[in-house]
Amino acid sequence: MADQHPVHSALPTELRYIQYTHSQEKKYLPLIRALIKEDLSEPYSIYVYRYFLYQWGDLCYMAIPPTSSFSPNNPAVPPSLPGVVVCKLEPHTSHSSPTLRGYIAMLAVSAKWRNHGIATELVKRAIDAMRERGADEVVLETEEENVPAMKLYERLGFLRSKKLHRYYLNGSSAYRLILHLKEVEDMTGDRRVDDMHGDGNMI
Ligand SMILES: CC(C)(COP(=O)(O)OP(=O)(O)OC[C@H]1O[C@@H](n2cnc3c(N)ncnc32)[C@H](O)[C@@H]1OP(=O)(O)O)[C@@H](O)C(=O)NCCC(=O)NCCS
Repeated sequence: MADQHPVHSALPTELRYIQYTHSQEKKYLPLIRALIKEDLSEPYSIYVYRYFLYQWGDLCYMAIPPTSSFSPNNPAVPPSLPGVVVCKLEPHTSHSSPTLRGYIAMLAVSAKWRNHGIATELVKRAIDAMRERGADEVVLETEEENVPAMKLYERLGFLRSKKLHRYYLNGSSAYRLILHLKEVEDMTGDRRVDDMHGDGNMI
């Protein structure tokens, strides 16, 4: 693996992962917006960020560099976040049996910090937090051409549930991915994973 991912020899073990809280909005929201604006194809207004962070701030995790190189209040050191994940968790009622559905809305790792396992750690923490809050499943959309993101999510157990043609404003198509967190009892009473993929119309 070392030849495939040489940067991992410099893995930043001193990175911290913290949960967002409202009291930190002034400090972190500008950094979250700057990071996401760099990388995602969709432009989001401040209201989109507030929609997620006001209600589900506890499902947002940030990767923070060591204190010595991260001084949001010191103008001499331009601060930046290595990574962030933003999520929500809501009842989903279009199934015959409603589910509590987690949704990964935004995930970004700054280019210079990639391939250190940061996104993996952020997504795992978000999934664990949603599982603890009773989520049945977690879904998201990602551009079909986004190989790093597709690989990351499929490695974590997500399945392709639906192709969304010309889903993004830039005209590119997406996959909806789903991670089932609970087994459900099917009509025969057998335990099974609630596998919705196949007909592409279940989500
Ligand atoms: C997609 C994205 C979030 C991935 O972030 P990342 O921090 O580089 O992801 P990770 O480091 O966790 O995983 C990347 C690779 O490193 C590998 N890796 C991570 N830690 C490793 C370690 N300690 N040893 C060996 N390999 C490791 C992972 O296995 C993965 O490899 P593979 O998926 O090619 O097999 C990042 O590329 C990004 O921000 N892209 C732009 C925004 C975007 O596309 N967001 C997603 C929208 S849905």
